[in-house]
Amino acid sequence: MDLDSQASATATHPEIGDLSVESMTLTDENLLRIPEADVPLEDEVDRLAQALSLKFEELTLIHQFSERLKIGEDTTEICQNLLLQLEPCLHASTIAIDLFEDADINHPRSFLLTGETVDAEKLSEIAVHTMKSVCDGEIIPGAEPVAIENNPTASSPALLRSIIIPIQRNGRTLGRMMAIRPNHEDEFGTVEADLMKSTSMILAAHLTNQRQYIEMELMFNGMIQSLIAALDAKDSYTSGHSSRVSDIAAMIAEKVGYDEAGLKRIRMAGILHDIGKIGVNDEVLGKSGQLTDLEFEEIKKHPVLGYNILKEIKLFEDILPAVRHHHESWDGSGYPDGLTADGIPRDAQILAAADAFDAMTSDRPYRSRMPLEQVIENLKSGRDKQWPSDIIDALLETQAVKQAT
Ligand SMILES: [Fe+2]
Ligand SMILES: [Fe+2]
Repeated sequence: MDLDSQASATATHPEIGDLSVESMTLTDENLLRIPEADVPLEDEVDRLAQALSLKFEELTLIHQFSERLKIGEDTTEICQNLLLQLEPCLHASTIAIDLFEDADINHPRSFLLTGETVDAEKLSEIAVHTMKSVCDGEIIPGAEPVAIENNPTASSPALLRSIIIPIQRNGRTLGRMMAIRPNHEDEFGTVEADLMKSTSMILAAHLTNQRQYIEMELMFNGMIQSLIAALDAKDSYTSGHSSRVSDIAAMIAEKVGYDEAGLKRIRMAGILHDIGKIGVNDEVLGKSGQLTDLEFEEIKKHPVLGYNILKEIKLFEDILPAVRHHHESWDGSGYPDGLTADGIPRDAQILAAADAFDAMTSDRPYRSRMPLEQVIENLKSGRDKQWPSDIIDALLETQAVKQAT
């Protein structure tokens, strides 16, 4: 393969797709320069060895950085980690990442740096000045240039050498990566520019994916809020019940050792546990007097109705057992499946206790809330009959009970 065809080859990165090799390494003039006739061979070999070593360092850093990227991970942590990785390679007095505000996903501007502290606005001023010097004073949003300033003058915002790399993708500028050095130190060159360009491309691709993920999450949460609003509109008497059960269940789950993923799951299950009531007759749901046996049978359908509403949506798969079984009883007298003891999914055991606590401490169409002493008495007498004892012990330790006293 000749040099031209090598330089135009492309590689595929698992996250960002096509990644032009040209922009990463092979056009480095130091690496590709044809040896001049009067340069001794050993010097040329040394030069090539050094250039290859720098490229190897660059590729290692890119590989390590890409390996650590995970969708959903905190962006600040990702950028901080990248800055720490760049620090030993760039030999700059300050390296900074300035991520612009993104109102669509509720992200404020975040400014991170490593090395000597420099004010964010000062660095911004340097960046704009440096970029303007390479694009005739006109910066086009989404197509900002890579810019290097090695000869700052008295009219520059600071007597510092600087290199500015935009973090941009698909015509959108997400932020900037910057490095600065005092005027008396070495000039910035293609080695630093290549390294920062490569990592900024990967960062831009990751941030774009992250943005899509957050947009989907916001849409998903909006959908859940719509479902809850529909339920609250139908059963205004128990409005707010779902979010209270969600909070109480999370408090219990934390006490019994749930991890972050488990807490997220139980919160979601709490929010949606009664969603099946959307399918229950309005008159039965809002009845203020005692329910007849037939009406109670109608109400008892809501766990399975909820299960059926949610089961087609893959994202709700984890919460289906809790939704279906939140009215099971430890002694087997519950519904819909009459499960007993440890046969009841753990999430459902927690939801059952949280649900009962909120029901007893809230006003209902057919009765007023119970005094707290009686609620506690009921919970204690239901240990190992209606609910497992460790869940009730955990519930009694939560802020939900303490705040109610
Ligand atoms: Fe329920
Ligand atoms: Fe409930």
